[in-house]
Amino acid sequence: MDHFLYRNGILHAEDVPLLDIAAQVGTPFYVYSTATLLRHYTLFDEALEGTDHLVCYAMKAASNLAILKTLAEAGAGMDVVSEGEYRRARAAGVPGDRIVFSGVGKTAQEMRTALDGGIRQFNVESEPEMRMLSAVASEMGKTAPITIRINPDVDAKTHAKIATGKSENKFGIPISRAREVYGLAAYLPGLEVVGIDVHIGSQLTELAPFEAAYTKVAELTETLRADGHDIRRLDLGGGLGIPYTRSNEAPPLPMDYGALIKRTVGHLGCEIEIEPGRLIAGNAGIMVTGVIYVKSGEDRTFLIVDGAMNDLIRPAMYEAHHDIVPVVEPAPGLEPAVYDIVGPVCESGDTFARHRTMPPVSDGDLIAFRSAGAYGAVMASEYNTRALIPEVLVNGDQFAVIRRRPTFDEMLNRDTFPPWL
Ligand code: LLP
Repeated sequence: MDHFLYRNGILHAEDVPLLDIAAQVGTPFYVYSTATLLRHYTLFDEALEGTDHLVCYAMKAASNLAILKTLAEAGAGMDVVSEGEYRRARAAGVPGDRIVFSGVGKTAQEMRTALDGGIRQFNVESEPEMRMLSAVASEMGKTAPITIRINPDVDAKTHAKIATGKSENKFGIPISRAREVYGLAAYLPGLEVVGIDVHIGSQLTELAPFEAAYTKVAELTETLRADGHDIRRLDLGGGLGIPYTRSNEAPPLPMDYGALIKRTVGHLGCEIEIEPGRLIAGNAGIMVTGVIYVKSGEDRTFLIVDGAMNDLIRPAMYEAHHDIVPVVEPAPGLEPAVYDIVGPVCESGDTFARHRTMPPVSDGDLIAFRSAGAYGAVMASEYNTRALIPEVLVNGDQFAVIRRRPTFDEMLNRDTFPPWL
């Protein structure tokens, strides 16, 4: 469910016609719906009703400060994976005790910043990291609350680049070594064990892998408690998938995911944290791009658009599918066309879709990539010295630019000449 619908023949974001935004901002751009963001956050919050819980939005999915503030004001915590993200959370008004710090490579500097500013917990992923955190916290005279991320060796059945819960992945500590590593944590100064963390992957379209992982976490909780650890918090990660096509996909609903959580770990009396990113932001955002040329090739027609792989890298990187629709609603009964939809970047990988059947469009028309709110703008770059794509937030009939397109001067002025040139 989202709030991008045709009205009077024009695709709208909530009550705002996309043509109005395009006229002011130019293309390409991302636009997000406040109502969709809040709806998705609330679905998770309600799914865990009756348990002590915190929904920590995984801001890596979409980390514009305006998005963060929208969610934070609704009560969301944040999952951060870098000092930059930690600073974003704080700048959006999230208190430290609602921020969890994930990631396999936290540096001493990042630990210091979080300990200084306040942190709910570090999700520790290795023994060297644990020793470093112990040293940093001790040196600062602080105690760092930690969970340890365990790798449950569960197949998430998702794209290989975004699966994280198998033993061959770089994440977490093998569950078979958990007791030993928790033993070390209890022994090291400056650390306070508060719970267990797990995250098995992203864009999961079945509940079974979650069930397998959370069942292992429940067993481990009992084992670790018997060993004397005060396991009172379970961070169950993110990963619930979204439908990327309107027709045939129906990933599990947050409500069913919530029921699964209660069924697998509810009896333990732990505080529950989850870290959804994609399901909150994915269908809350679209990328709008303009058609530069319709180019006839030998055996196909190319739609050359002004958005490119540097603006939305998911198709190039994960063979991801995004539904693509014209901003002006096609007349009923129009014969569809088949296009290869490509950007202007100088490599063949800059292809959004091959043999895509869609309503015919012409030079100058606008098209929208749906379900682009998560891992869209955050993964954008300035490759080919293309200006970083701007972001717009809609709320009812209002819209605001929440990150403007940089000027070419701004881009060029970030480079400096060395003294010998
Ligand atoms: N927690 C941790 C520790 C994570 O590593 C991730 C995602 C999440 C939570 C959020 O997962 P979500 O609910 O969004 O599935 N760029 C890729 C996705 C990378 C996901 C990385 N980790 C893509 O565009 O598909």
